[in-house]
Amino acid sequence: MNTKFNFLNRDIVSIRGFSREEIDYILEVAKSIEPLAEKGSDMLRGKVLAELFFEPSTRTMLSFQTAMYKLGGNVIGFAEPGVSSVWKGETLADTVRVVEKYSDIIVLRHPLEGSARFAAEYAQVPVINAGSGAEEHPTQALLDLYTILKAKGKIDGLNIALMGDLRYGRTVHSLAYALSLYNVKLNMVSPDLLRMRNEVLQDIRSRIDVTEYRDIEEILPELDVLYVTRIQKERFPDLGEYEKVRGTFAVNLKLLKSAKDDLIVLHPLPRLDEIAVEVDATPFAKYFEQARNGVVTRMALLALILGAIKNE
Ligand code: CP
Repeated sequence: MNTKFNFLNRDIVSIRGFSREEIDYILEVAKSIEPLAEKGSDMLRGKVLAELFFEPSTRTMLSFQTAMYKLGGNVIGFAEPGVSSVWKGETLADTVRVVEKYSDIIVLRHPLEGSARFAAEYAQVPVINAGSGAEEHPTQALLDLYTILKAKGKIDGLNIALMGDLRYGRTVHSLAYALSLYNVKLNMVSPDLLRMRNEVLQDIRSRIDVTEYRDIEEILPELDVLYVTRIQKERFPDLGEYEKVRGTFAVNLKLLKSAKDDLIVLHPLPRLDEIAVEVDATPFAKYFEQARNGVVTRMALLALILGAIKNE
């Protein structure tokens, strides 16, 4: 393994804080930690993870909890700010400065962009961004890369499409930044209203070629990876705009007839109607395995940040 990186006590605010070599190393650690996801370990015994979730979550919250428990640690926190003193008006800054007294690491999901960086500036313990509004979801990008690597044996050389809500979907922002560190062909497929943010496009186009499409049919037969996202209704300032794009994409067996046999379909979940249930039983479907990979990827991150795995 590479010996150059130090993850001890590191915040994970944005995927842009990582080099390709660092990401490759995290993915290596995730692979090596796979057996511990089955049999468990006590490498984080006595450590406490605090989850502060100001927005709903199933996968991120529960996979961080599972990761911590599998490594022998403990978890505190809330999934509903209405049961915390936030309800009485306590600020995020004060919440973080109190919770750090009870914990070794904070995992924060918050509706505001910039919230994770803000919390990391106040906290003395490391802060992991578990989703900051429509901005970023860096640990999701790591588990997405891990899933691609596991399924395809490589990331370089792949032809990948990100499809759906590229404007408000935070997972595709982080994933696009991460993929731009690899030698991939990246395609963005969305209605005009939901195009990838300009700031993301400008950044990643300095490293890789990116092509934009309105229709998936134009590109599907060439793809190795199709990453589908839900249209993020809750982030639209005007629901009339949501109605214009609702149901734009539907990945179903009819559509997939023109795909390569070894195409993989990913989705950060939750899904609504953008992937038909009939796809679930096909070899294309990797999205439930993707959710499972969240555990090992987060185990690797927690072990590295809390110093249980060192690469000195
Ligand atoms: N992928 C993801 O972030 O799912 P949750 O919103 O359920 O955490």
